[in-house]
Order: sequence, then structure tokens, then C-alpha cells
Amino acid sequence: MPAQLNVASLLGELTLEEKASLCLGSDFWHTAPIPRLGIPAVAMSDGPHGLRKQPDEGDHVGISGSLPATCFPTASALGSSFDPELVRRVGEALGAEALAQGVAVVLGPGINIKRSPLCGRNFEYFSEDPLVSGVLGSALVDGLQSQGVGASVKHYAANNQETDRLRVSADVDERTLREIYLPGFERVVTKARPWTVMCAYNKVNGVYASENRWLLTELLRGEWGFEGLVVSDWGAVHDRVVALAAGLDLEMPPNLGVSDAAIVAAVCSEELDEVVLDRAVSRVLQLIDRATQSAADDGDEATAEPGFDADGHHALARAAATECAVLLKNDGDLLPLQPSAGDMVAVIGEFSRTPRYQGAGSSQVNPTRVDNPLEELRAAVPDGVRVEFSPGFSIGTTADAELAAEAVSLAGRASVVVAFLGLPDADESEGFDRTSMDLPANQTALVPRLAAANPNLVVVLANGSAVRLSDWEHHAPAILECWLSGQASGGAAADLLTGAANPSGRLAETLPLRLEDNPSYLNFPGEHGHVRYGEGVFVGYRGYDALGLPVSLPFGHGLSYTDFEYADLIAPLTGNAEDDSLAVAVSCTVTNTGQRPGKEVVQLYVNDPESSVSRPPRELKGFAKTATLAPGEGQTVTFRLQSRDLSYWSVRQHRWVLEGGTFRLSVGASSRDLRLSTPIEVNAPPLPVQLDGMATLEEWLAHPGGSALLREAVGVDAHGRPRGILGDEELLRVIGNFPISTLAAFPGLGIDHTKVDHLLRRLPPQ
Ligand code: BGC
Repeated sequence: MPAQLNVASLLGELTLEEKASLCLGSDFWHTAPIPRLGIPAVAMSDGPHGLRKQPDEGDHVGISGSLPATCFPTASALGSSFDPELVRRVGEALGAEALAQGVAVVLGPGINIKRSPLCGRNFEYFSEDPLVSGVLGSALVDGLQSQGVGASVKHYAANNQETDRLRVSADVDERTLREIYLPGFERVVTKARPWTVMCAYNKVNGVYASENRWLLTELLRGEWGFEGLVVSDWGAVHDRVVALAAGLDLEMPPNLGVSDAAIVAAVCSEELDEVVLDRAVSRVLQLIDRATQSAADDGDEATAEPGFDADGHHALARAAATECAVLLKNDGDLLPLQPSAGDMVAVIGEFSRTPRYQGAGSSQVNPTRVDNPLEELRAAVPDGVRVEFSPGFSIGTTADAELAAEAVSLAGRASVVVAFLGLPDADESEGFDRTSMDLPANQTALVPRLAAANPNLVVVLANGSAVRLSDWEHHAPAILECWLSGQASGGAAADLLTGAANPSGRLAETLPLRLEDNPSYLNFPGEHGHVRYGEGVFVGYRGYDALGLPVSLPFGHGLSYTDFEYADLIAPLTGNAEDDSLAVAVSCTVTNTGQRPGKEVVQLYVNDPESSVSRPPRELKGFAKTATLAPGEGQTVTFRLQSRDLSYWSVRQHRWVLEGGTFRLSVGASSRDLRLSTPIEVNAPPLPVQLDGMATLEEWLAHPGGSALLREAVGVDAHGRPRGILGDEELLRVIGNFPISTLAAFPGLGIDHTKVDHLLRRLPPQ
């Protein structure tokens, strides 16, 4: 075990130049070593769904290769598992591989919100919902860090597109940031305590994330108590000194000779307080110390041998992929396939022998092996069943009439057709956004022809982000969405298609009928350096549900080969809002009423119909995946809501506000399949209204103290009726929303400047 670094004493021994060098890496993937003081370099590698350790200098976007590692399901798939325990196990395996390869920090998970289906990197993100992103992100960090390897939660914050990602300003209002784009980070930081947080490339409200003191220091450290290190995204630093002062500890990769020189010059000229530099250096040293302590038994040198249980991890990748797939549709119970001897299953689609299982860019893993769905299906069907293949289309090229005709002919001779469709690599990747939600035309054109040849058509999808179904889904009675599910996705697909496993994934993003329905549509990807988050908090299902728009399939949807019944919803309240101890213990029972064992994802949605601000009609505030329930078996699922779960972010008070009144809690199987609902009565203190000259007459009248003072100042006439405007209800309706100081200038209303001044002086302290 190497000796622990004594950070305090090292700070006294390091020269200014050495300190500056520690705030930059030494190459693409390493921190800077200071050999004379025994400070080693530690390595970082991408993430997040498998390790991408590059043996040499590297290029960071996957062009040059990396050492073999298990490619687990991407976040697009893991998000659909709704299963934190599973994601934790994937994190543990990822950590074990990182440790074996001498990697101290894995650059992930990415927990940005899927604002638009077009974001090229959606396959690296979990969900359109902050709770799903935060819970699953925390689980991955927990698992990874349990192995003594650090996580880097990214990309902080509001990095929701690839277009102009290095410069664009994400212009997001305060409430939307707090309710949608930040809670995932907040949860991971406060609950899973990641070793590092990676700042985004983009600007947030005009300030680069790398230079954004509010994000990196006030919020992250001040409010959330983050004690780890902030690293830049690769190339996100533009002014090293400004970034350091804002709270960015480590620049990667290093702008050698420029950033270090700028830090030294800034300290010498007293532009930068050395205390700020020391703080960043301490965090870098703490990271190095943590990493070297846990890696003590492992070499830092990458080896060609995996050094981890490759078979065991492949099996985990297969189990995980099985949990992630979403059965979108299963008319007439076409699935699971039940072929018998003599039957022929036609497997159509190039993706069945050239599977697409991960996305392109910095997260691209060099897999230890890859399962092929066609072979896996052949191995899984009973003896005497033939599985025949026809590619049907070629990936990434235009329609090929001959391939299509062959596939249609094969379909016509089969008992059942399984078509593997999906997006080509070239359609979704880090670095650019998609331009449409459509599957390639050579695939969608094939679907009706296959269906005409054989109505028993199952479509299996491989894509990292939502694709449009509405133009072809009516031809396919069954659709299984496998996402980009890692190197074992082929085996998982075979397990699910044959019924060896029962689908239990649920949509972590809505599938809209058309791209134009997506709430961000009019404001994505922005222009002239700005992207305006104009839909506010109405992201994903929050927006579709608020507008009552029909969708292809709602958030949370996913079928099973069995059925579940919900019963006995209760939601007793304890504590009170005044001291923030309010809690609601929600529980219900779920019973498997079908014929096969299966798991249900129980979702808890909150609705505040009486809110004084505009709120989404349903917000996910809890979810739980049951254990595998045997037919007839039930499980009680419980959730604990706290006051924050019922609150909105007030832009007036810059804090979470819980309003009293009746809330509706619902549990169900999707945002549009609510099985049980119950009202709860919440007592909360009324919102304080700030009374001043700019408060309206209505606000004065609604305020108990203000109203009494105002009525007294205006006085009553001989009949006891209030004088001036207070006695004229019609006029009150017309100009009741005028500020009181404006009304003071209007003659005949009974309120003049002297009275307003007097009122303001008599107001009790607010
Ligand atoms: C990506 C990060 C990645 C880094 C290192 C950047 O371009 O945005 O997600 O971790 O490169 O490869």
C-alpha cells in the first residue's frame, strides 16, 4: 500500500509552477505527476457503458482503438430498466474492469436530460425525466465507486444537444434548471458522492459551464456540499484563470505551456489569489491519493489480457440487456414465439447478423465479444424449427430492390417473421444531432411488404434514441425495443423473443407521433449561438400530457407476457410543512394475475391541480421494479415522499415552495395508464406576499395584514360601505391588478400618495 499523500505538507513544498501544472493533465488521459515529491499520475478513461482505455496517447473520440472491455447496455437501454440494483451491478463490473486496467476515474455516467429525441448523444443519457436520470446515475456511481474507482458525472450542466456544443448558450430559466436539468446532478452529488464532476462544453445562460461560478461553486459546493474535484470536459476550458476562480480544478486535456503559464502569471500579478490555486491543487492531490490507495494492488500499465472475469461480465451484460428491452406492442400475443418442429422463422434485416449495440464517439467500447441475434435465435428455438435469414436492406445505403424482394419472398414462406430494424451508426453519434426521428426509408418501406406477405410480423428495434413508429407500426402486431443494448444484446433478444425471459423494461422517454409534437421542437437546436429552452418545465411527458397530445407510446409504457393488477393504494401523511418534516408513505400492492412470472415497474405520479403556478399534470416522484412475481404472487411497493417532492421552485423566493391544498397521487404502469389515485390534503403556511408600492391592489387585499390597514386608511361612508375603489366592485375588477403606487396618482379612488406612504410605514416587518 503506497503511503498516503500528506496534502497539507505537499502544498508547502510544491513550487508555484508545480501547483499550476497539477491543475492541468500531463497528456490526454493522465493527471500531472511530480516525481520529486512522489506524486504519481493517475489515469482517466471513458465510460460510461464500458471502459475505453486507450493504450497510447489516444484521441478521445474513439477513432484509435482501445483495449477490449465489456460493452454493457448504453444508458438509453439502462434507463429503460428502471432498475437501480441492476445498474449498480453494471457499475461494479465497470469498476472492476477499470481497476484491472489501472484506470482511476471512469468518465461517466452522463445524466443529461433527453430534451429532444434528436440529440445525437441521447444513447448516452438515461431519460427525459430527472428522477430516473438521478436514481440510475446514482446507482452507477455507487457500483463503480464501490470498487475504489471514481466516477465523473457529466456533462454539468444543460448539455442537451450536440449542435454547436462547444459554444452554444443553453438559455434556461431558473425554475426549469432547478426542476428539470439540475435535480439529477443534485441527487447524484448528494447521495452517491462522485469523486469528480465533469463540466459541460456549453454555456449556461451566457457563461461557459467551465467558467460558471454559480454552477461550479455556489450550487455544487455551497448548496449540495460537493467535496470532490471538478474536471473540464475535454477542451471545455477557454480561460484557465477565470475557470480556476470559478471552481474548475482540473483542465483536460492540458493546454500545456498556455494554461499553466497563465495561472503562474495570474498569481504573480495578484490577479488570482494563491489560496484559490491551493484549493484546486488540494482537490487534485486528494483525487490522486484516493486513486492510488485503491489501485495499490493493481499495476498502472494496461495489459492485452483483460484481467477481469470477461465471461461473467458478458453474462451480466446479457442479463442487463434483457431487463432493458421494452415490449412496445404485442397484439394477439404474437410474442413469445412458439414455433414447433417443421416451422420456419424468417429473420429479416442486416442488423440480425451485424448488430448495432452501442453509439459512436468517445463512449465507443472495443467489446470482448459480440452476440449475434441470428445465431442466438437459431440456438434458442426447439429442434426441428428452421431459422432462415435474409438481409432485406443494407445498412446506411439506399433501397436495394433485390434484397427487399428476397426478404418478402422468405417472409411469405415462413410461419413467423422477425425483422431486425434500427438506426445506422451514421445516424446517431456524439458530435452531431439527428435531423429526423425516422428509421431509414429502405427499412420503413419494407415493413408493409413483409406484413402483406406474412401478418405474423415481429419488429425488433436497435436505436439509441426515440424513433418514429406512427408511419409503420400498424403493420407490425409486435414490436420489441432493444435500444443500444451492448455486446450481449443478441442473446438478450433471443431470450425475450422465445419467452426464456419476460420483458420488463419501460420507456424512459415518450415516443411521440411526430417530431413536431416534441415540446422542444420550436427551440431546438437554436441559432446564432443560443438555444432557448422555451418549453420551460414542460419537457418530455410533462409537455405532451399538459397539452393532451396523443403520442405513439407514453413515458413509462412497456408490456409484459403477464398481467398485473394494482390494489390498496394508501398515502398517510406525517409531520408538517412548517418544519419541513412532512412525509407521505405511499404504498400499494401489485399482483401478477397472468400466466407467467414477471416484473412490474410501479410508477408514482404527483399532480397539484390547485397550484398557483403552471405545473405539469403528472410528475414522476417514485418508481420501483418488483421482484420476479410468480403467477398469483403479489408484492407491496412503498414510496416515501417528502415536502420537496410536492413542491415547485419559486422564482420569486428562489427556493422550493410547498403550497397547501389537495394533491392527487397516482400509481400506474405509465404516465397515461394510472391504475389507482388518491387525494391527499396538505396543510402548508400561505405564501408570504411581499407588500410594497409595486404590489397590486388585489395583492394588498389578499394579504390579511395589508387588507386591514388598507381598509382602515380608505375608511367607510355614512352607510358603512368602503370608500373609493374599495366600494366599487366593477372598477376593482378592471384595475385591481394595478400597483398601489400607480393607483395613488389616480384621483377619486380613495388612495393617495400620503396614504400609501403611511401604509408602507405601518406594515409589520415581512
Ligand atoms: C466528451 C466527454 C468525454 C471526453 C473524453 C468529450 O468530447 O464530451 O463525454 O468523456 O470527450 O473522451
